[in-house]
Amino acid sequence: MKILIVGSGGREHALAWKIAQSPLVKKIFCAPGNPGIAEVAECVDIEAENIDGLYNFARKQKIDLTVVGPEDALIAGIVDRFRDGHLQIFGPNKRASAIEGSKVFAKTIMRKHGIPTADFKVFEDIKQAKKHITTCEFPLVIKADGLAKGKGVFICKTLDDANKHLDDIMKEKIFGHAGDKVVIEEFLSGEEVSILAVTDGNTILPLSSVQDHKAAYDGDKGPNTGGMGAYSPVPFITEELQFFIEENILVPIIHAMKRESRPYKGIIYAGLIITSAGPKVLEFNARFGDPETQVLLMRMKSDLVPILVSTVTDTLEDADITWNECASICVVMASKGYPDAYEKGFPISGLETIKNFDDVQVFHAGTSMKNGKITTNGGRVLGVTALGKNIQEAQKTAYSAIQRITFEGGHYRSDIGVKAMYRKKEHSENNY
Ligand code: AMP
Ligand code: GLY
Repeated sequence: MKILIVGSGGREHALAWKIAQSPLVKKIFCAPGNPGIAEVAECVDIEAENIDGLYNFARKQKIDLTVVGPEDALIAGIVDRFRDGHLQIFGPNKRASAIEGSKVFAKTIMRKHGIPTADFKVFEDIKQAKKHITTCEFPLVIKADGLAKGKGVFICKTLDDANKHLDDIMKEKIFGHAGDKVVIEEFLSGEEVSILAVTDGNTILPLSSVQDHKAAYDGDKGPNTGGMGAYSPVPFITEELQFFIEENILVPIIHAMKRESRPYKGIIYAGLIITSAGPKVLEFNARFGDPETQVLLMRMKSDLVPILVSTVTDTLEDADITWNECASICVVMASKGYPDAYEKGFPISGLETIKNFDDVQVFHAGTSMKNGKITTNGGRVLGVTALGKNIQEAQKTAYSAIQRITFEGGHYRSDIGVKAMYRKKEHSENNY
């Protein structure tokens, strides 16, 4: 088979790395890719948003299957375009990817179909939104409706704070039309966890549990990022809890999408918070997570390609996924300043040394090649991902590897996976 992967981050590097291990695959292209991906795939200079360019390339190269990484391409309708042209592509179409593209749509469908989520109200009018918040308890959460590069969610501690964010979103339009509507919702507390599943719209195949670390600094301090690290499996996601999530969240959302004439195929990613009243959905994403995919694919024993193909051909009921019993952890090394402004173009050293480490993969997230040297080219630069007998072992390996890598201003959290240890007991005492 010939496969095209769309995207250029750590998630796409992990996909390329895993797909390259499949005996079914003869050739992998990645658009636009990065220098890490270039070790296992041919990178082609077409941006992920250039749907026409990607379609023409896939047609010309007779690509058997295209796998889409980023949400923007899905929400812009890449899947519709490929399917209209009878090209196989993995991911939800434009109407179905509204589950990620519009928080108003996602919250409304959850409420309509009884899927547990924070209580909320939607506003198009800033005056009404401001009036509403005078009646709310704090903290409360304000979310811009559309895509905002992961920056559209505000946890507001005071009324002043909330008024300011409403002004920014609805008056100053800091996110453009993505802020035409807002969701104002109840603040939930609990541990966050990501449960991803593959679905062809009929069968749902959940993946192993993962915990992302969104905050920039240790102890979950600092601004939210795309994700500073992840680990899998999550010890407090017991089999019972995983089953509860499948029955009460994954099955109902896929059914609801079908009922709403938006049949869903691809990855459904449920961002959950485990409250004292049970799991609730914070958000749905329409794609593989980043860096969740890095740890999941390190642990996946099955060949990924037949799973992707079965999804596209509606035969997922015959597929199965097996997991390595080991734990996996990914520590993201980021540029100085990320998630705010940062400089790029610094040379990275130490990558060659890591190649000798067993059980470690360094997935490139934001890198480029300059005069034969790998340099930084993004906020999240590398995802150092390790396998181990358990989280502690994986953690030890990942941190011993990451210490060998240096670039100017490079930083990482030193507590990825720590929550796995101390939260386990607490949660095992809860019964939902
Ligand atoms: P979202 O993009 O909706 O997942 O929100 C981004 C992050 O904001 C989540 O990962 C949570 O850390 C936080 N968040 C979102 N909604 C809530 C909520 N209702 N209560 C508490 N925290 C939230
Ligand atoms: N790591 C969070 C996401 O992929 O959305």
